[in-house]
Amino acid sequence: EKGGFPHYMLKEIYEQPWVLENTLGGRLREEEGDVELGLGLDPMAIDRIHVIACGTAAYAGWYGKYLLEALARIPTEWDVASEYRYRDPVVDERTLAIAISQSGETIDTLEGLREAKRKGARTLGVINAKGSSITREVEDVLYIHAGPEIGVASTKAYMAMLAAMAMLAVHFGRRRGILSKEEAQRLLKEMRKLPRLVEEVLEKRPLIAHLAEKYHQAQDFLFLGRHVQAPTAYEGALKLKEISYIHAEAYPAGEMKHGPIALIDEHLPVVVLATKGPLYEKTLSNIQEVRARGGKVIAIATEGDMEIGKLAQDVFHVPEVHPLLAPMVSVVPLQLLAYEIAVLLGRDVDQPRNLAKSVTVE
Ligand code: M6R
Repeated sequence: EKGGFPHYMLKEIYEQPWVLENTLGGRLREEEGDVELGLGLDPMAIDRIHVIACGTAAYAGWYGKYLLEALARIPTEWDVASEYRYRDPVVDERTLAIAISQSGETIDTLEGLREAKRKGARTLGVINAKGSSITREVEDVLYIHAGPEIGVASTKAYMAMLAAMAMLAVHFGRRRGILSKEEAQRLLKEMRKLPRLVEEVLEKRPLIAHLAEKYHQAQDFLFLGRHVQAPTAYEGALKLKEISYIHAEAYPAGEMKHGPIALIDEHLPVVVLATKGPLYEKTLSNIQEVRARGGKVIAIATEGDMEIGKLAQDVFHVPEVHPLLAPMVSVVPLQLLAYEIAVLLGRDVDQPRNLAKSVTVE
């Protein structure tokens, strides 16, 4: 049932091009520059959004915040659900609470959603599991259609959540008159390319296996990224922690000099998301800061970027795509890196210690 793969996690990583096809499916309307999501919700009836989720789903929510604010100009807050439910959030009937969950059963996410509802919020679920608890408590569901995910470390569901949040942002941006038809068309065209681009990344797995070989004995890892690539950095660190048990931390790259830079020495591999985009130059300065202190930089860079090789010890190139969509191609090498390292260390990839696939207790 693993389709010839040694682990579910690897099978699910390889399913991602197909998953993207499925999530985007018949929803993109390139001609009109719109997305058809079949939601009952009126995008004009909301003034703010609260995204509620846990773990990997929360990082997809953080990514969603950047897009909802950039493309639809809706003020968006993002919280892990276990904080949200107890922080007495300011909610009114023009607040949209979005619960993101693969299983649809995560108790903190469900309770966070209930808290928002009690306070009068409108509700939307971005969910994988059909008919799950959360889907029964929201007004609208946007299914991500990733298919069943067995590996405890979430991979394909994350990919599908990113795509769903991007579609939602385009949809809201168009309906609220913020996003022009041309800009939406450009984004949708780029989204259509994603399955093929992710396929291209997967073909380069041997390069990741080589990096894993080189770095699997490290005690700690640092992951850095900015803007939409900050959540990617956090997701990369979480994947590594979960299945290899190597300590990994993530930071928005600009925060490094406010403390974590003290950690850097010649033993610390630092994975930097350095794809092309408005903050590329800033990210290069962050790489220089790491290098100047002897850190080992593994850069995830855009195809054709040859400059970066002068600064980073190792470079993994991902295909060029709209900067707001770069996380979809960039998270794949991080998933593979965590996987290859865990296998080299002899870990139980599909059933990592202390973890459950769905967390239905507090
Ligand atoms: O089913 P959910 O998406 O609500 O699960 C949320 C988290 O428990 C989940 O993403 C967890 O962090 C995974 N183990 C990440 O790989």
